[in-house]
Amino acid sequence: MTFDHTTTEPLLSIRNVARRFSIPQGLLKPPKVLNAVNGIDLDVAPGEIVGIVGESGCGKSTLGRIVTGLMPASEGTILLGGRDVSTIPRLELARLVQPIFQDPYSSLNPRRSIAGTVAEPLHIHGIGESSKRFEKAVEMLDRVGLPSRFANHFPSQLSGGQRQRVAIARALILNPQLIVCDEPTSALDVSVQSQILNLLMELRRDFKLTYLFISHNLAVVEHIADRVGVMYLGRIAEMAPAPDLFAAPRHPYSQALLNSVLTPEPGAGVPDIGLRGTFPDPLNPPAGCVFHPRCPREFGPCSSRVPALLPADSGQGSGQVACHLANPEFSSPTEPLHVA
Ligand SMILES: Nc1ncnc2c1ncn2[C@@H]1O[C@H](COP(=O)(O)OP(=O)(O)OP(=O)(O)O)[C@@H](O)[C@H]1O
Ligand SMILES: [Mg+2]
Repeated sequence: MTFDHTTTEPLLSIRNVARRFSIPQGLLKPPKVLNAVNGIDLDVAPGEIVGIVGESGCGKSTLGRIVTGLMPASEGTILLGGRDVSTIPRLELARLVQPIFQDPYSSLNPRRSIAGTVAEPLHIHGIGESSKRFEKAVEMLDRVGLPSRFANHFPSQLSGGQRQRVAIARALILNPQLIVCDEPTSALDVSVQSQILNLLMELRRDFKLTYLFISHNLAVVEHIADRVGVMYLGRIAEMAPAPDLFAAPRHPYSQALLNSVLTPEPGAGVPDIGLRGTFPDPLNPPAGCVFHPRCPREFGPCSSRVPALLPADSGQGSGQVACHLANPEFSSPTEPLHVA
């Protein structure tokens, strides 16, 4: 699906968002600051699926937690339907934005029936008569592919894919506008992954949902996302419509990432993506472009100036790239940024 970002008011608007963590260095040393996300600008149109990809530790989940209201930003603003989320009361925000996480087992109460689990948000938010809540939960379970005979089952009686369907039903029961999916299929068998992805796409259409879809699995993101943001060390390196990114990545990091096969296990370490140097220490990030020590195209300004996320191809395409090679202000000593 394509969205006209020049005319559509974004549902989600992220402006210059940063999140810093203070990391203790032992008794005698002062703590260090870790910029988990830094200078993030991102708009998501209503009905759009925006994928966020990048290696382990690049800040995907931190960004997702900030958007969901589970963690405050250290800097910047997040607007949802034009309203600053930091001013939206917590319960109201939970009705508007719902998360779906990787591991449905740890997010489901093992002692609560699945219909009870799905009905719980209605109870917390005081929505509907109590006698109708169970009925509504059963309807939602049916909608996500779990017929009524499952209603009184417990999470331990379900497969991983079925548990993720329960988590999806619970996320949708409050009729949210935005769903933040953080690796929603990474714990599932490959065959089940595509069923869940297809379900999420059907639900987007039927419930007019918008997704921020975090994954380090490029194939999954290519399948589901309309646009994709590639993150590296807390920053967005490139943002582009999914078909454009996968056909012709612009940023040298996106090119390396797409040439690699990322590990299907989040948190299982940084894959070798064939670049020089190693993944930088986030406590001592490189100056200038954070990617420059590993970049095969590094030149003049890269080690000292942070590249802004600017329209790629002199604004002719709809993508944006944070790379000095794409900035007409600098004339590169090598060829200009081109299609890989
Ligand atoms: N609560 C925290 N306290 C301190 N550091 C944190 C905290 N949460 C995240 N970080 C650090 O912030 C950086 C980004 O972490 P984050 O979990 O957002 O990465 P990610 O892209 O989701 O990685 P993965 O693919 O492994 O899930 C990492 O360096 C991580 O160690
Ligand atoms: Mg994560």
